[in-house]
Amino acid sequence: MRESSQHPPSHLPQAAALADHARQARQWQLTDLFRQDASRAARFTLEAAGLCLDFSKNHVTEQTVALLTEFAQARGVETLRDAMFRGERINLSEQRAVLHTALRMPPDARLMVDGEELVDEIQRGLRRMESFAQQVRHGQWKGYTGREITDVVNIGIGGSDLGPAMTCAAMRHYSHPRLRFHFLSNVDGHATVATLAALDPATTLFIISSKSFTTQETMLNAHAARRWFLAHGKEKDLAAHFVAVSTNTSAVTAFGIAADNMFPFRDWVGGRFSIWSSIGLSLLVAIGADHFRAFLAGAHAMDEHFQHAPLHSNLPVMLALIAFWYREYFGTSSQLIAPYHEDLRHFPAYLQQLEMESNGKSVTRKGEPTPMKTSAVIWGSTGTNNQHAYFQMLHQGSDLIPVDFIAALKPHHDLIDQQRALLANCFAQAEALMNGVQDASLPTHRLFPGNRPSTMLLMDQLTPASLGALIALYEHKTFVLGALWDINSFDQWGVELGKTMALRILVELEGSESAGQHDSSTNALIARARSALK
Ligand code: F6P
Repeated sequence: MRESSQHPPSHLPQAAALADHARQARQWQLTDLFRQDASRAARFTLEAAGLCLDFSKNHVTEQTVALLTEFAQARGVETLRDAMFRGERINLSEQRAVLHTALRMPPDARLMVDGEELVDEIQRGLRRMESFAQQVRHGQWKGYTGREITDVVNIGIGGSDLGPAMTCAAMRHYSHPRLRFHFLSNVDGHATVATLAALDPATTLFIISSKSFTTQETMLNAHAARRWFLAHGKEKDLAAHFVAVSTNTSAVTAFGIAADNMFPFRDWVGGRFSIWSSIGLSLLVAIGADHFRAFLAGAHAMDEHFQHAPLHSNLPVMLALIAFWYREYFGTSSQLIAPYHEDLRHFPAYLQQLEMESNGKSVTRKGEPTPMKTSAVIWGSTGTNNQHAYFQMLHQGSDLIPVDFIAALKPHHDLIDQQRALLANCFAQAEALMNGVQDASLPTHRLFPGNRPSTMLLMDQLTPASLGALIALYEHKTFVLGALWDINSFDQWGVELGKTMALRILVELEGSESAGQHDSSTNALIARARSALK
């Protein structure tokens, strides 16, 4: 296994001990760790908020956990966590609080931030959303011809799309049978045309979701939807078919959506943490108020666990420490997410934004270069399809890739033989990665090195509550990693440069002549596109 070239700041006493310990850990065989300790599985399994995390098939011992948690303490993980929950402005570059956790506090809780009580306001907003969702679900919200809504289209991108799209797919068994949900995110007109072609304007409701209400992709899609609708309905009918979710009231009004049809949220909700806010409106319409509240409660249960469980028995902390351990000391550069549940098929993409937009940074909270490698590449797809695609590389490739297996024990169907086969495959992959095959009588292409780590995350069933807990688990994992790396996980300046340059190039693609002020490659690309689109 390759050694990482960078290590935690050497001024921390724990850094030297961790580096020493890691030198030994890289020699361990996972199978030996199991042989030496009959209770290893129990010792390295944690449960909270309906989730069970078995991290025993990782290169860790109790000493590893002790050293890593000491390091986490020295990095101030608990102090930063408490500051986040209190509403301090821990998003330094934007001078904002980070309070998505407040959105899932119970209605009778209280949270004072800067002299303002937030829970009442949050609950008022939630009740407005619930009343709207109920009207759509019960067929009381009518389209312009008096018919009930059959199709809901969420137009948004990034956090304003990935959360709604992922959760609506995950919660399909709880979804209203009359309603179909569509998600339009890409600025690619192929997607826009294909989505609209399948819809009837008289029974379609558009939810324009954008925190800023200025995002190019969302605005172009929203205007395309508006034009499409106006080819059938009239301006006065727009109110029955367009609602907005945003923090930007003036931009929403300018688009032509009245304040009554706007569901606001506050700037302390980051895009990739926003599914709990009014960005979750399409999910709420899909599953109804009781299930949505169960979803919030599942996340809140994980928040409580994260705040109060000691670091060594804290699920999000442990998930983060394991990720940190491999990234820093085993030279890994990617992390595979393997849900063995087809309804979680969008979860890896959701986590890509959550982890990589949060922790793909190279400066510390003070603006200095990070001494450590930060976010790994997050990727993955559902099992068992993944096994017939890229698992070859996990088993016999040259890179070490830690895997998070995610499974629900009980299905929402009665094909129990298939559920058994699904779980058998999931558990077998984890065992095979660990055991490998070392047999001198076999040709080398039949050998498996084994000793490859994985973490198993189990839930009883994929319900609103367990989904809420699962998302909150990874949110807090992301937060802890950011704290360990001393980076601000809550801004995303890295997205800005490409956005600005795209606007400049767009002017050249629209105008009568190209400025020709780019490098020769970009100039030639622009010229080709201009002539193709003439
Ligand atoms: O990709 C950058 C980003 O700002 C994300 O953080 C955000 O989720 C997405 O764009 C969408 O932004 P908005 O909700 O403002 O349209």
